[in-house]
Formats: sequence, C-alpha cells, structure tokens
Amino acid sequence: MKRNPTQLFLWLLVFLSDAVPFSDEKSLRERATELMQNTRLIDGHNDFVLRLRMFYQNRLSKVNLRELNKTHTNLKKLQAGYVGAQFWSVYVLCSAQNKDAVRLTLEQIDVVKRMCNSYEELELVTTSQGISDSRKIACLIGVEGGHSIDSSLATLRMYYDLGVRYLTLTHSCNTPWSESSSKGIHSFYPNVAGLTAFGQEVVEEMNRLGMLIDLSHTSYSTAKAALRISKAPLIFSHSSAFAVCNHSRNVPDDILRQLKRNKGIIMVTFNADVLACGRKVVNVSTLADHFDHIKKIAGSESIGIGGDYDGVEHFPEGLEDVSKYPSLIGELLRRGWNETELKGVLRENFLRVFREVEKVRDSGLMDVAEREIPQEEVQNSCRLDLNNYRLQTATSFGFPSVAQSFSLTLVIVVYVILYYES
Ligand SMILES: *[C@@H]1O[C@H](CO)[C@@H](O)[C@H](O)[C@H]1NC(C)=O
Ligand SMILES: *[C@@H]1O[C@H](CO)[C@@H](O)[C@H](O)[C@H]1NC(C)=O
Ligand SMILES: *[C@@H]1O[C@H](CO)[C@@H](O)[C@H](O)[C@H]1NC(C)=O
Ligand SMILES: *[C@@H]1O[C@H](CO)[C@@H](O)[C@H](O)[C@H]1NC(C)=O
Ligand SMILES: [Zn+2]
Repeated sequence: MKRNPTQLFLWLLVFLSDAVPFSDEKSLRERATELMQNTRLIDGHNDFVLRLRMFYQNRLSKVNLRELNKTHTNLKKLQAGYVGAQFWSVYVLCSAQNKDAVRLTLEQIDVVKRMCNSYEELELVTTSQGISDSRKIACLIGVEGGHSIDSSLATLRMYYDLGVRYLTLTHSCNTPWSESSSKGIHSFYPNVAGLTAFGQEVVEEMNRLGMLIDLSHTSYSTAKAALRISKAPLIFSHSSAFAVCNHSRNVPDDILRQLKRNKGIIMVTFNADVLACGRKVVNVSTLADHFDHIKKIAGSESIGIGGDYDGVEHFPEGLEDVSKYPSLIGELLRRGWNETELKGVLRENFLRVFREVEKVRDSGLMDVAEREIPQEEVQNSCRLDLNNYRLQTATSFGFPSVAQSFSLTLVIVVYVILYYES
C-alpha cells in the first residue's frame, strides 16, 4: 500500500501521541529508581521494633524478618525501596513515664542491636562516616520521647554510649522539662511550657555529646526554645507542613524559616492523618504537596524523609509499605524537582546535618552537665531521694534516736516485768 506524505505524517502523529506519555511515565519511574540506586535513602523514623515487642515479645527467633507480612517493614521491602539507612525508633509509650520507661527503652535498644547483628542485610552504625561507608542497610537508633531519660542527664549519656543518635524531646506527653504538641492525651505535668531550665540543659548536653535533637511531637514553644539554644542543626524526624494540613504534629512556616537558618531538616512523614486533615483521597499527590510547600518556604536543602512506617495505621494510596519510596521520587521528578535537590532529600541533607552535629561535639567547648533536675519538679512515688541517705542511715543504725532508745527501754522493762510475773 502506498501512503502520501500527509497521511504518513498524521499516522506518525497518532503513534507518537500514544507513545510519548507512556514512555514519559516509564522514564519517571526509571529515573527515580536509577537515582535511588546511587543515592540510597536515609529514613528518619520507623516504629517496626515496637511491633516486634507487641507481636513477638522481642523474640527474634520466632520471626523471619526477611518475609514478615504483618508489618509495613521487612528486609526485602527495605531493599526494594532502596533504603540505605534507617533510624529505628526505640519508642516506649507515654504511659510508661515515671514507671519502667528506662527499662523498656533499654529492652528496645537491645532488640535493635540483636536484629542488626543477626541479619547480614543489616549493620549497626553510629556515625555519619558509618552511614557513608555502609553497603548494607545501616541501622541507627533514635529514642522517641523525653520520658525515656527519666529526667536524668546521666541516663541520656548512657543511651549515647549504647549507640543512640537522636532523642525526640517529647512524644505525646509533657515531661517534667519539655512540652508536647499533643494536648489532652495524657495528664502529665500540665504546667510545663516549652523547655524548663533543665530542658535547656538537656539540649546543651545533646550538643556536647553529638546527639541529634529531634523536634517532632514537641510544642511550638519547645521547638522555638530548642532552635534558639542549640549550637548544632536540629531535625524533625517525622513531621509535615502545618500550612498544608493544620495538624498539631506539623510544622508552621515561621519554624520552617528558622529551621532553614539553623541549617536543620524536616524529614517529611507519610502518616496519612497528618498529611490530609481528613480528606477522603490521600495519595502521592497529597504527600508531594507538603514537599512543594516546604521547598517554597525553606528550600529543598531543609528536607528529608521520615516515613513513620509501622508507627501509624494509615498511609497514602500507593505508599503502603517501605518498598514504595520510589513512587514519591517519581512524583517529585514529575513536578520538576531536579536530581541535585532529590539527592539532598534522599540522603545528603541528613548527612550534612549529622556531620555538623559531630563537628559541634568535636569542638569540645562544653563541660559535662552534672546538674540534677530539682526534686520538686520530679516528685513521684517511683523516685528515691538519696540526697540525705547517709544521715538517715547513721541515725538509724549508728546512734539510736531518743524515740528508738525509749522504745528499747520499754521493751526491756516489759520483758523484765513479765519474767518476774511468771
Ligand atoms: C509474604 O508475602 C509474599 C508475597 O505475597 C509471599 O511470597 C511470602 O511467602 C509471604 N511471607 C510470609 C512469611 O507470609
Ligand atoms: C484547622 O483548621 C480548621 C478549619 O479552618 C479549624 O477548625 C481548626 O481549629 C484548625 N486546627 C488547628 C489545630 O489549628
Ligand atoms: C490523587 O488524588 C487526587 C484527588 O482525587 C487526584 O486528582 C490525583 O490525580 C491523584 N494523584 C495520583 C498521582 O493518583
Ligand atoms: C537544581 O535546583 C537548584 C535549586 O533548588 C539549583 O540551584 C540547581 O542549579 C539545579 N541543578 C540542576 C542540575 O539543574
Ligand atoms: Zn511519632
């Protein structure tokens, strides 16, 4: 069959108009995975290890982490999502405050260490260099909630020694020294506003140690105070933009601008409830709207990713588990984010913050904080006051008090009387 040139041209046009969008879609997905293969994600927050406690009492022998399907997270999915480093949250519930929060936190640290030492896909790291060098999925540890240190700087230091590299100053409860953004969930310390004097000391001690300060879940005044005091950049490990969805967990624009000046980052969360404010359809577009907004206010260099997988129930359509990160990167490419910006979001921005935090530590300018929180700020029945311990023991065992001498005399007299009566 013979075609004239016009027919041929039209035919070509039809063919191309079909083929172009298709190859466009495909190339976005391909570009996203290619980018992620070379720039693997550092994710700021994953609550999987709390699931290990709830489902398996931390018995790793009872579960195969490669294929586990009850959770958003397993090793195969982490690999499919090009995750290169994961902050595992060693979160214990606010209801453990003033009870066994420290023990529970230690048990969660223990299970992260055992998990990361027993699978060849994983490896525990504690430094920015460790993340850069790792060819595996690097494991990092974050303590979510100031209640886990039980108002003790020594406990904070011991967590650092155990490998903990961030502390979220509050979860959904106030502590004796820091105010949470959640109101009305817990009744702890309702009069605490922002950071107390001791809270400010916690921030300074974290600067000295080289521990990242995480402001997700904290109140506006707590975030403001920490941004003012800290000598190192700060992070939000899993929060989004308040201007897009006015949820108390999200970060308002003025704090985002301050975060930019601080050279810190907000690791955007995928939690559908804080992304969408009750809207019915929540998909990758909803999430990307938060990225676009934060970029407009604070620049792409202030952004990272903190999925919060296994921490909440609802995720956007198409982002149901940790294998799905490439969909987000594809969508951001479609919206015109360039590869430099996306490498920052995936990995480089966090590494920059972590290196700076280590640099502040290495400057060695600060003294160890030895102050104790004032007793009257932490009065509760689980706290033993040992400050007068010696005096009390000396009185009870060394030199009997008047009352003790009197009782002893009385007992002897009664004995003697009874003896002679019988
Ligand atoms: C989890 O799901 C995958 C894919 O559906 C399946 O191949 C695998 O056997 C499942 N693993 C478990 C432990 O159920
Ligand atoms: C969010 O916005 C809605 C509607 O404008 C308003 O009713 C609500 O009180 C706001 N919530 C917060 C936390 O500001
Ligand atoms: C997300 O949902 C909105 C609203 O229904 C829709 O307009 C948009 O196309 C969806 N985005 C994707 C990537 O499916
Ligand atoms: C990517 O975007 C940034 C602005 O966010 C710009 O400074 C940079 O030059 C761009 N890079 C490329 C390769 O286009
Ligand atoms: Zn959280």
